[in-house]
Amino acid sequence: MDSIIVRGGNPLSGRIPIAGAKNTCLKLMCAALLTDEPLTLTNVPLLSDVATLALLLQSLGCEIACMQDGRAMVLSASEIVDRKAHYDIVRKLRASFNVLGPLVGRYGEAEVSLPGGCAIGARKVDLHLTALEKMGAAICLKDGYVHANAPNGLRGAEIEFPAVSVGATENAMCAATLAKGTTVLRNAAREPDTKALADCLIGMGARIMGAGTSTITIEGVERLNGTTHRVIPDRIELGTYMIAAGVAGGEVELLDGRRGLVEALSSSMERAGVEITETEHGLKVRRDEARVRPVNVRTEPFPGFPTDLQAQMMALMCIADGTSTLEETIFENRFMHAPELIRMGARIDVHGGRATVTGVERLKGAPVMATDLRASISLILAGLAAEGKTVVSRVYHLDRGYEHVEEKLGSLGAKIERVSDK
Ligand code: UD1
Repeated sequence: MDSIIVRGGNPLSGRIPIAGAKNTCLKLMCAALLTDEPLTLTNVPLLSDVATLALLLQSLGCEIACMQDGRAMVLSASEIVDRKAHYDIVRKLRASFNVLGPLVGRYGEAEVSLPGGCAIGARKVDLHLTALEKMGAAICLKDGYVHANAPNGLRGAEIEFPAVSVGATENAMCAATLAKGTTVLRNAAREPDTKALADCLIGMGARIMGAGTSTITIEGVERLNGTTHRVIPDRIELGTYMIAAGVAGGEVELLDGRRGLVEALSSSMERAGVEITETEHGLKVRRDEARVRPVNVRTEPFPGFPTDLQAQMMALMCIADGTSTLEETIFENRFMHAPELIRMGARIDVHGGRATVTGVERLKGAPVMATDLRASISLILAGLAAEGKTVVSRVYHLDRGYEHVEEKLGSLGAKIERVSDK
């Protein structure tokens, strides 16, 4: 397994591109199952999660051709040979559960492995299943698989989600595009990824109103067609590199970055004393010599502060001039980076869903271990501000969500390298 070695103390400077959004791209790929015509995606990120989902879709019979060194992908689901998404792939990638809505929507049946829990929490799927049941699917759980059946097709329904779920909103929205009648999703996710999926579905001929708000209305149509769709920039990668500049100091320009994707983070960082300006090509982020100020953060569904940036923000608060609190409201076990940051000299107290961080002048490099995707990158960011050498081991999660992280940070002047453990 690979490790990443970071030698801290260098301010960052330069410009890097922000890749297409992982979470958007994965759901767009699942949406290809809704039509027998080819769906072409551009600005595809080069990530292992994308490759894993491609394998799953191919196992169902979807043909996938990659062009432009993997940056463009044509998915053709004209002949789906299998409607069963197997455990060995679904367990690796929770987003693959989002083949369920498209398969039931188009074929009236599907069998998808339960994704299981993961390091950051239980991550249930009850909201996905209740939504499909309301649309008339009979759901049964057997041998770790969800069997969904709607032999006469799905029908439109009024669905009020008791809690906001990105995945459940997207699964229900996809399924509803081919249902008979109108579906209304209330308390729906407003994430840019969900809006982008709706935009792509509209390009495929779906009738969707209100995506990006908490009420989405979908009028079912007979069939969908193919289209070409560009994946939006990855707001979590963007936010991560914004925080990197805050942690290490210096000035970076993040090409294709847009403030509207990271408004909650931008205002938190500005309160911390980091300058953020919109440029013709993206976002410029600058921090001078002064220490950042502490800011309190609470994770919330979009447009609130994203849970996927909480670990990175904690790395920044570890070197703030004062005490801050970070409250995690989305996942029950998402502070696993805290003990590792403490190994680097951070002062953090975790009580339930709240972490209190008292900033220190300087972190110290140490061997640390990555536990999940966003925790991995937070340890690398902390390493940028630490004295000496930080070795982050078990970084395989990193390649799931960040493309060429060592090249990107390296090109900004960070001392960072990847080594393969023998
Ligand atoms: C998506 C993102 C993930 C992000 C998360 C929250 C993808 C591929 N992943 O995950 O990066 O961290 O949104 O912004 O898009 N829940 C239930 N029952 C359900 C579904 C969810 O209880 O049926 C709970 C979850 O356990 C969690 C909360 O609802 O506590 C939010 O989860 P959800 O929005 O569904 O996250 P994902 O779609 O899995």
